[in-house]
Amino acid sequence: MLLYLEDEHIPATRLAEAAGLQAVCVERHRFPDGELKLRIPPKLPPQVVLFRSLADPNEKLVELLIIAGAARKHGAKQLVLVAPYLAYMRQDIEFNPGEAVSQRIVGSFLASLFDGVVTVDPHLHRVATLEEACPVAHPMVLTGADTLADLIVARRERPLLLGPDAESAQWVQVAAARHGLDQAVCTKVRSGDRDVAVALPEVDVAGRAVVLLDDVASTGHTLAAAARLARAAGAASVDAAVTHALLSADAMRMLHESGVGEIWSTDCIVHSTNATSMAPLLAQAVQAIRRH
Ligand code: R5P
Repeated sequence: MLLYLEDEHIPATRLAEAAGLQAVCVERHRFPDGELKLRIPPKLPPQVVLFRSLADPNEKLVELLIIAGAARKHGAKQLVLVAPYLAYMRQDIEFNPGEAVSQRIVGSFLASLFDGVVTVDPHLHRVATLEEACPVAHPMVLTGADTLADLIVARRERPLLLGPDAESAQWVQVAAARHGLDQAVCTKVRSGDRDVAVALPEVDVAGRAVVLLDDVASTGHTLAAAARLARAAGAASVDAAVTHALLSADAMRMLHESGVGEIWSTDCIVHSTNATSMAPLLAQAVQAIRRH
């Protein structure tokens, strides 16, 4: 059985269909004081998957706590969280004395509730594996790069993949190798949430169909800075493809004003830019964990 919340009906039922699981929506009521009442089926099979992507995560973490507790009480023996977007992964060291290392704290919390965690392109820049951040029995990390690469070649001829910063090189390489595409990576210095300086690499973008590729777009400033440079250097078109679109309406407007034509994302986070689905890969990961 796969449990999900109503706001993720589309990606959750896509996954349930791909994995051959019965999808059941968790009933959710908010009391006037803000607390939540959640209701799951009173009789669960031994293996249960909970689909909850963790964009805008604070309240969702409380949902996970309550649903996991109820699921154990009602018969779940193996409980797997499918969180295509995993929150709190960016604060992975104590940048300033006293700062909470949220990655480890939230990761341990999830590991205390679930037997398996499946996620896509988590932000693990200073740790090598998901297990270090989230010490769960069955950690599973997928990438959106292959799925985005397939989408990009269907939409643009002879695209040049451009990563906006050094960290994006890993996804650019995967996507470029899949279809033999040209690739390059910018350099970026971030001085604040909305303050980034990007420099283009030594590559001729003139006349090219440039596609910016990254794991996450949040404020959009990283992609916008790269797009302005590519446009100024004569790119024929600039589009953007990301695994996780956290972008607000204002961020989308700013991206288009910076010269980005289309924005494509996977359905890891429900967003108006969703253009391709991770369901087939998520289903394989869920089935692999269920076989354990
Ligand atoms: C950073 O390393 C990530 O890969 C993204 O480049 C970053 O999170 C994008 O953030 P924003 O859209 O706010 O510039």
